[in-house]
Amino acid sequence: MPETVLVTGGAGFIGSHTCVELLAHGHEVVVVDNHVNSSPHALDRIAKTAGRPLAGAFHVDVRDRKALAEVFARHPVDSVIHFAAHKAVGESVGHPVEYYDTNVGGTCTLLSVMHEHRVHRLVFSSSCSVYGDAQTVPLTEQSPVAPTNPYARTKLMCERILEDVCTHLAEMRVLALRYFNPVGAHPSGRLGEDPQGVPNNVMPYVAQVAVGRRQKLSVFGNDYPTPDGTGVRDYIHVMDVAEGHRVAVEHLDDRPGMQTFNLGTGTGTSVLQLVAAFGEASGRPIPHQIVDRRPGDVAELVADASAVAAAWDWTTTRDLAAMCRDAWRFQQLNPHGYSRRPGEAAAGETGELSCG
Ligand code: UFG
Repeated sequence: MPETVLVTGGAGFIGSHTCVELLAHGHEVVVVDNHVNSSPHALDRIAKTAGRPLAGAFHVDVRDRKALAEVFARHPVDSVIHFAAHKAVGESVGHPVEYYDTNVGGTCTLLSVMHEHRVHRLVFSSSCSVYGDAQTVPLTEQSPVAPTNPYARTKLMCERILEDVCTHLAEMRVLALRYFNPVGAHPSGRLGEDPQGVPNNVMPYVAQVAVGRRQKLSVFGNDYPTPDGTGVRDYIHVMDVAEGHRVAVEHLDDRPGMQTFNLGTGTGTSVLQLVAAFGEASGRPIPHQIVDRRPGDVAELVADASAVAAAWDWTTTRDLAAMCRDAWRFQQLNPHGYSRRPGEAAAGETGELSCG
């Protein structure tokens, strides 16, 4: 049954792709975003890409109880996907209060407004960073959690809060999704990752090297206990992440209470393998040099993705080549992200795209 889904952080990287996926499957979508780390241009692109408008889009901070309540009063929300949060690990160490305030405080405000409006169905954006420095991979949902930074702790705290709320309120239905490393872009090239400033994450950095915006990639360490010594991650195509959220919404009523699932592919890729795959996809070599390890990095994070497959009969379908191809297409068509120079038409809005 199509439903009205409120998406917090809907203009962000994962949020925008999820909105397109929801619209494509007939759901009505209402976006709430404060645009602190996302562009309002993404909202136009969501509608263009899906070929359908959003039911509503509000410039609202999830900590603003009054404004959030007005959104719930105006729209008959059936379920919520909660992405809105700060997400940079390094930054969280320097700004812990801001991280706890936005990520934990924002979630509490949202939960309380949801309850006031009798909305009790939630998909929560968690992270594989809750597992910390994994002793063994692949990681199942039962693997020990041991977050190593404030960002990861905010995600784990929110999971705990949601468990408590589910214990207290019999009508609550919560799915917490622990994502591994979302990368890639919509195959149209209209939507993608648009980090502000120097990218923290490897994939957008590599893409900016390929397009000539940055000179070379620094590979953070080649002395990890991994096959080629560089860090191994479970990269997952953002379209698979988006699909996973849509499927989650459609499974919210499977059972009461809270369930937690990994969202990954089960395949590990090293930094050097990623560099090679991107070079192949772009047809350009990616200059890189080995430098010291990045403090706080772990050797290997790979999901055991079998629980979600068993629960929803759903798995990811897009491989590393597709992740690189789509990220490269977005980068080429949007060399400056969503921001345009005056007079310049935004790529993806000019009709020159024919892929996907
Ligand atoms: N890396 C480089 N050079 C760079 C950037 C990263 O070599 O310029 C390496 C890292 O050392 C790591 C791998 O590339 O081995 C992936 O690093 P990312 O920064 O892309 O991703 P992380 O795994 O560190 O963290 C990401 C998100 C977090 C999230 C975590 C798990 O940034 O928000 O995945 O969900 F918590």
